[in-house]
Amino acid sequence: MLKSIMTAMAVYIFLIASGLAAVAEKTEVTMDAIFVPVGRLALAPPVGVTPKRSAVAFPHSRHFGYTCKTCHHKWDGNSQVQSCTASKCHDQLSVPVKSKKVRANRLEAIRYYKYAFHQQCISCHREIKLQNEKLERSRKKIKEPLQWPGPTSCVDCHPRE
Ligand code: HEC
Ligand code: HEC
Ligand code: HEC
Repeated sequence: MLKSIMTAMAVYIFLIASGLAAVAEKTEVTMDAIFVPVGRLALAPPVGVTPKRSAVAFPHSRHFGYTCKTCHHKWDGNSQVQSCTASKCHDQLSVPVKSKKVRANRLEAIRYYKYAFHQQCISCHREIKLQNEKLERSRKKIKEPLQWPGPTSCVDCHPRE
């Protein structure tokens, strides 16, 4: 009995270790040098903002099929990953005032953390959804089940409390 429990545990640990190794390979970092949170991260507004919506339960590791830099686009691949709302990144806490210079305004606008999150999260999910709809409309035979695109509506990300 004890032996079978031990075997089960060993397999479990092995799976964790090989899973992490796969991530390490993809990111080309030594895993003991960086702490990567897995499971669901609660994404809430930064300190100083009164939330209008509930926090988003973001399944971090379910997105690891993408390279880390898809989202952590300023990360050098070695040092600690900065939070999205770190200083000089998406550190603006309120809606930017409209300026006449459209280009400059766009760069400035994405510093507003809400725009940054919505642009990245919703755009990708919406893109997959559009691709799926295109495939469904086409007369091509769809062999594999279409990939679920991830949520695109407000309440799917910010559930009503
Ligand atoms: C794919 C997930 C996703 C979808 C869909 C989404 N949001 Fe968000 N939203 C986020 C994330 C992530 C943040 C940043 C974390 C936070 O502030 O909660 C955010 C932030 C916000 C904020 C600022 C923080 C706050 O609570 O005041 C508001 C307001 C908001 N969203 C409203 C909406 C509305 C309205 C919709 C639908 C039109 C929507 N969101 C759709 C993920 C999403
Ligand atoms: C789909 C987007 C996405 C992908 C892909 C992604 N992450 Fe993240 N990651 C996030 C978000 C969003 C957070 C929360 C950041 C915050 O709170 O500001 C986060 C947080 C982190 C943190 C904690 C940062 C902190 O604030 O302390 C680390 C470390 C991290 N990610 C590493 C990785 C690594 C390594 C990979 C690749 C295997 C990866 N991430 C892939 C979106 C992503
Ligand atoms: C580059 C593409 C991409 C980006 C960027 C991305 N997602 Fe996703 N997301 C996906 C895909 C694909 C799925 C479906 C995954 C699956 O089926 O396991 C998904 C699934 C989800 C789910 C549903 C998971 C569940 O089990 O309920 C949530 C919530 C989610 N994403 C939130 C976010 C948030 C918040 C962000 C921004 C911080 C984000 N995503 C950024 C591609 C993306």
